[in-house]
Amino acid sequence: MKALVVGGGGREHALAWKLAASRAVEKVYVAPGNAGTAREQKVENTPIASADIDSLARFAENQNIDLTVVGPETPLVNGITDRFRLLNRSCLGPTQNAAKLEGSKAFAKRFMERHQIPNARYQIFDNTGKALSHARKMGPPLVVKADGLAAGKGVVVAHTLAQAELAIRQLLDERRFGAAGDRVILEDFLTGEEASFICLVSNDQVLPLATSQDHKARDAGDAGPNTGGMGAYSPAPVITPALYERIMQQVIEPTVRGLDRDGISYTGFLYAGLMIDRQGSPRVLEYNCRLGDPETQPIFLRLQSDLAELCGAALAGELHRIKTQWDSRAALGVVMAAGGYPSDYATGDIINGLMDTDDSPVKVFHAGTAIEGGRVVTSGGRVLCVTALGDNVTAAQSTAYQSVHNLHWNQAYFRPDIGHRAVAREQANGAVSL
Ligand code: AMP
Ligand code: GLY
Repeated sequence: MKALVVGGGGREHALAWKLAASRAVEKVYVAPGNAGTAREQKVENTPIASADIDSLARFAENQNIDLTVVGPETPLVNGITDRFRLLNRSCLGPTQNAAKLEGSKAFAKRFMERHQIPNARYQIFDNTGKALSHARKMGPPLVVKADGLAAGKGVVVAHTLAQAELAIRQLLDERRFGAAGDRVILEDFLTGEEASFICLVSNDQVLPLATSQDHKARDAGDAGPNTGGMGAYSPAPVITPALYERIMQQVIEPTVRGLDRDGISYTGFLYAGLMIDRQGSPRVLEYNCRLGDPETQPIFLRLQSDLAELCGAALAGELHRIKTQWDSRAALGVVMAAGGYPSDYATGDIINGLMDTDDSPVKVFHAGTAIEGGRVVTSGGRVLCVTALGDNVTAAQSTAYQSVHNLHWNQAYFRPDIGHRAVAREQANGAVSL
């Protein structure tokens, strides 16, 4: 079978690596991929941008691709799956209509309200004056969200009224994100611990993947600006077996039933970003219609099942037949970024130390990397995700950081505390000798 992975980040490196490990897969193309995917066995990059649906469809036709798996949200929200279906080509990912769960936060909020899925109280505005006056009524802290896709930058957690007012004006008046800011959502600020709950869905059939937790803030101690994610680990001990059942009953099952009731067919990965409060109640912060990045890297390092088989089962509506196998160890990934990310950062810096690091139980997934003159250089904000297995999160953390310290380039940046919540829990439970 020939597979195509759409995207060029760390998540797509993990997808391509795991698909290539399947005996049924003879070749994996990645569009556009990165230096990491270029170096994997059975994997070849093709220089097509992930948003270029026309060229991707043409490529799939010309190469006779049997299975396409889409990493990022933009092509899904823009209808790549619909296009591939017209061509009778298998493409794993929701249709444009179903991807509205991520593509429009207003749609997602109304969906959750309609189907009684726990989330933060909210109101939607397209008028600056009304939004400002509601924000004043709410008072800080509150959360201001752009309705549409804004490359991960459309959410402002406002700790002061001035921050909220600025965010509202930037979206509605200054049109900072264009049409994505036609409407804003003002939402209650929720406290607790976040977790990522990602499933493979085929209409009413749901196959939950291993649990995980991301670290969105750029700096140690969850400080600094929000990013796409600075590191992740799996499993997330905040999700106890009892909470897992609760999430299935109160979030995942009502979501899948709700989609069905609304006449929306959903096939692909579905990611519920959750806030777990002190009482252990889950609330949905957002839906994503795709795998998380960097959550996928530690999750797939633990996945022992054949990924091509899982994808095929989802597309065939046969997920109920599948039982996934997971490595019982924990996995933890540290994102190494270019200094300055998520704002301005340099590219083209030579990365040293790669040859010495990529060996079991460590896997270095590439994101913003390219090959120039035979050397691997930086080409994006998030550059690598150094991922390791360990007997628990503490051990995985220690192994991952040993490798991080062997990797160098000009102004490389990483958080020193990925996994801190799980490590604190393990220490409190005596799972780790100090
Ligand atoms: P979203 O893209 O909606 O997940 O928001 C990005 C990040 O903003 C989340 O991962 C949270 O860290 C934060 N966030 C979003 N909504 C809320 C909320 N209602 N309360 C507190 N934090 C939030
Ligand atoms: N890591 C967060 C996301 O993929 O949206």
